[in-house]
Amino acid sequence: ESTLGAAAAQSGRYFGTAIASGKLGDSTYTSIAAREFNMVTAENEMKIDATEPQRGQFNFSAADRVYNWAVQNGKQVRGHTLAWHSQQPGWMQNLSGSALRQAMIDHIKGVMAHYKGKITQWDVVNEAFADGSSGARRDSNLQRTGNDWIEVAFRTARAADPSAKLCYNDYNVENWNWAKTQAMYAMVRDFKQRGVPIDCVGFQSHFNSGSPYDSNFRTTLQNFADLGVDVAITELDIQGAPASTYANVTKDCLAVERCLGITVWGVRDSDSWRSEQTPLLFNNDGSKKPAYTAVLNALNGG
Ligand code: G3I
Repeated sequence: ESTLGAAAAQSGRYFGTAIASGKLGDSTYTSIAAREFNMVTAENEMKIDATEPQRGQFNFSAADRVYNWAVQNGKQVRGHTLAWHSQQPGWMQNLSGSALRQAMIDHIKGVMAHYKGKITQWDVVNEAFADGSSGARRDSNLQRTGNDWIEVAFRTARAADPSAKLCYNDYNVENWNWAKTQAMYAMVRDFKQRGVPIDCVGFQSHFNSGSPYDSNFRTTLQNFADLGVDVAITELDIQGAPASTYANVTKDCLAVERCLGITVWGVRDSDSWRSEQTPLLFNNDGSKKPAYTAVLNALNGG
């Protein structure tokens, strides 16, 4: 196959990208995105500050621009993200305790109702663990509402849209030896044992010199899959975009039956949140980088 999406589909997987609503008027951008990818994540538009700027007043205008572009171009959509310490609107940043807990629940219900039956996977909770060696939860206003905030979010999400796969999503959880990975593993194992509704784990996979790719990523993916959840690579970008590393990540997903697919976090280097690291598959002029060819070959079994 000659595109990433079609090549991934040969094994029942998808290949996606983050899409920014503000770039949908850029024809170089949209022609690459329409051609190559069959899954879309809104880069910012489905986040809390965008979708509920005032408490109880939902605004899906930017989110729907991304959603509608995706569907009109035959793509599936991953929802990102419902409960997160970051990109909270001001009113939510100022809440705590039971009022914040209720606001989180109401937010999940409100957004999931709007997209009920339309979203393949939802990142229900994003980035709840601390970096470093502690293996602790990240401190945040949500965490301070009680350690059970994550499972409450997942139970709320399951009731709101039973058709969506419900994911926990984080970064620096790709290396099996990291404390953060082990902490996330313990949470997912506990959720499966106690019947908390979780279907998938998203590995953001923002690799750079500080958090480099390690070949034990495949072990990590398989160990989580063995807990009874699907896994996905949700925000892939790699500093310098080495073709060999991109190929290895792709092969890691292909090697794990429950790896649903791969999403890269943007189209061209100039679209990246860290464009100075040139971490993506397309040059600024829209041409394909060596990493693109490496990923395509890997998806085609080469
Ligand atoms: O929209 C405003 C614009 O009006 C304003 O003029 C401009 C000035 O700074 O800011 C614009 O908002 C920016 C927004 O991106 C849209 O471009 C924010 O400042 C900026 O903080 C925001 O960055 C996003 C970041 O999440 C925020 O946390 C990145 O685009 C986005 O790629 C990044 O994505 C995250 C994932 O959601 C979670 N995992 C990590 C990943 C990378 O940080």
